[in-house]
Amino acid sequence: MLATKQGTSALYPFPQEDLTKAELLDMPRRIRVPAEQGDISPKIAEFLATHEDIPSPCLVVDVDIVEYNYTALQASLPQAAVYYAVKANPAPEILARLVSLGSSFDTASVPEIDMCLRAGATPDRLSYGNTIKKKADIEAAYQRGIRMFAFDSIAELEKIAEVAPNTRVYCRILVESEGAEWPLSRKFGCCPTMAAELLVKAKELGLEPYGISFHVGSQQTNLGQWDAALNRVATLFSQLAEKGIELSMVNIGGGFPSRYRVGVQPVAAYGQAVMTAMTKAFGDKIPHIIAEPGRSLVGDAGVIQAEVVLVSKKDEADEKRWVFLDIGKFSGLAETMDEAIKYRIISRHEGKDVGPVVLAGPTCDSADILYEKTDYDMPLDLVAGNKVLILSTGAYTTTYSAVGFNGFAPLASICI
Ligand SMILES: Cc1ncc(COP(=O)(O)O)c(C=O)c1O
Repeated sequence: MLATKQGTSALYPFPQEDLTKAELLDMPRRIRVPAEQGDISPKIAEFLATHEDIPSPCLVVDVDIVEYNYTALQASLPQAAVYYAVKANPAPEILARLVSLGSSFDTASVPEIDMCLRAGATPDRLSYGNTIKKKADIEAAYQRGIRMFAFDSIAELEKIAEVAPNTRVYCRILVESEGAEWPLSRKFGCCPTMAAELLVKAKELGLEPYGISFHVGSQQTNLGQWDAALNRVATLFSQLAEKGIELSMVNIGGGFPSRYRVGVQPVAAYGQAVMTAMTKAFGDKIPHIIAEPGRSLVGDAGVIQAEVVLVSKKDEADEKRWVFLDIGKFSGLAETMDEAIKYRIISRHEGKDVGPVVLAGPTCDSADILYEKTDYDMPLDLVAGNKVLILSTGAYTTTYSAVGFNGFAPLASICI
């Protein structure tokens, strides 16, 4: 059986200090959560135990845990409107569940917009949050009823004004991302001075300058980063008010964590940090808040079951064995790039003694090594054919999977 604490008898609520809010008590009791957040949910454990025939590798997502995470985040940040970052995992079952819970959606492309509309979201619940869009795609989104767009440059703003007139726009600014395990620095956002000029320009172009967005980096472990970012945003609000532009929205992005190898604070601590920073920056004039969680809603809801393809050594004298799995960087585990995201990996084979390993994927690309510098141990008697479980893999895996490198199929996914 599974070599992990399964918590099959642990019924909601589980003992996490981030679940103290009264709102959580309204959560349906049908949701069974793991004994520890980020562990394998009882539903997934049962599914794996009773479905020997699923493809390998395969991501199994417990959609109830997505609901649980959504409710916990909403309870921790009651003043924020949640726009789920669809890129994290656009499985129709996840989108449909979030629609039913009242979530809105942050989309990055027309296909993502269509996925949300198909799942039952109305266009007023969608924002087009990518700052890099083709004009034709902005137009296609506008035709579908989308009325909120992100930008961070004059050229993008002019495209929006041309094909999506009179819509709400918000400007993304550059902020620090130190402390993030998956930083999003540099590529998106502009400096605050430019943001102020662009928001003035937005009004001249007939658009509605709605607010400011930022992203402190994904899997952000430094709760102080929202403080620094919100100070910057509040200064911009004041500067623009002096020019007659009253912004009304702050988009605090994502950055809330999943449970990987390094411990993280509970979601309630994040909610508290954000709201304390918000009050410090804006006093009693707190603007409309949008949060765009991706990883924190779906990461811990998923487990990948994979298979050992080969266990070998490069030299008999080596201490470390190489364990090659049937999943790698090109089949879903792209976030192991530079060993950034360190997944918890356990063997379904309960070997008594363990030893150090290098973990690698199955493809012909020598970059397809998951962990070489980070310490991982696996059972000494591990052999080809044994199953492994890669925990908290519900986010940024299926969508990062290549369509057929070396002929391997894209990562299979099952929502339960
Ligand atoms: C604009 C935007 N919003 C939200 C997210 C989701 O961030 P996270 O997964 O850290 O919650 C991302 C991630 O890339 C993003 O680019």
